[in-house]
Amino acid sequence: MIVEDLPEQVRQHVREARRKGLRVGCVPTMGALHQGHSSLIERAREECDFVVTTIFVNPTQFLPGEDYTRYPRTLESDLRCCADTGADLVFTPQTDHMYPDNAQTTVQPGKLAEVLEGVIRPGHFAGVTTIVAKLFAVTEPDAAYFGQKDFQQQLIIRQMVRDLKLPVEIVTCPIVRELDGLAMSSRNRYLSAGERSAAVELSRALAEASRLAAESTLDSLQISERMWSLLQSSGQLEVQYAVLADPETLEHPVQRTSGGRAVALIAARLGTTRLIDNELLRFS
Ligand code: PAJ
Repeated sequence: MIVEDLPEQVRQHVREARRKGLRVGCVPTMGALHQGHSSLIERAREECDFVVTTIFVNPTQFLPGEDYTRYPRTLESDLRCCADTGADLVFTPQTDHMYPDNAQTTVQPGKLAEVLEGVIRPGHFAGVTTIVAKLFAVTEPDAAYFGQKDFQQQLIIRQMVRDLKLPVEIVTCPIVRELDGLAMSSRNRYLSAGERSAAVELSRALAEASRLAAESTLDSLQISERMWSLLQSSGQLEVQYAVLADPETLEHPVQRTSGGRAVALIAARLGTTRLIDNELLRFS
């Protein structure tokens, strides 16, 4: 496995792979890798011949006061994980290579970035689209792999790729969960033991929303209210949103139509940690 921190070197390796006719897959991450990340690398491994993982804690997607400085940085074990999972190249850029002092240009997402996470973390998605565009420019992938865990993020990246006509296929992979249902996240390690037990309420509320969509006649607002009250009843969670939205436009509430699809999305704070989770559901 090649480990490289210089963009130009990465580009050369990728172009060499391309010349050999290999399909290139890219898995962008911020490190602190867990099984959610490795599922993306495995999927890329199955569908591509040359797999690039990027590890970069991107400063521009953190708001002032967020966890940029304390975000876990575990490069050594991350590299082991990449090697075990079958990455061919790991790109670990330095911040000033991705953001030179004289950089002026950013990628601004549109409407999709103005709701839900975009309201609570204004500017976050512009940081994401800007870095992902740069990572695509360096790694020139045929396909790039993202998790459904960050549902709004993958929608915004799909939109960016369409709008900027970037020649990359976006693949969204299922959420990998702990045994009790908690979605894996690099931020779960911030949770105290008590918070960790309360964290399971997010996936429970989503499961209940899914059940109500399939088995009741409640409309999407009523189902959202049910999610809110389940989350509140834990006593520890500070709910930021719990909605049923259109899985393509994120408009909410969605109309209940027979066989119609929606995505249930939750964000909640647990002490100083912010957790998000979601589930696709279908109305009966
Ligand atoms: P990060 O939070 O490290 O996540 C990297 C990728 O792993 C994202 O596509 C995310 O959705 C996916 N992922 C995280 N937890 C997952 C889980 N439990 N199951 C499946 N996939 C999971 O998302 C980012 O980094 C950054 O915003 C990035 C796209 C790298 C840009 O900086």
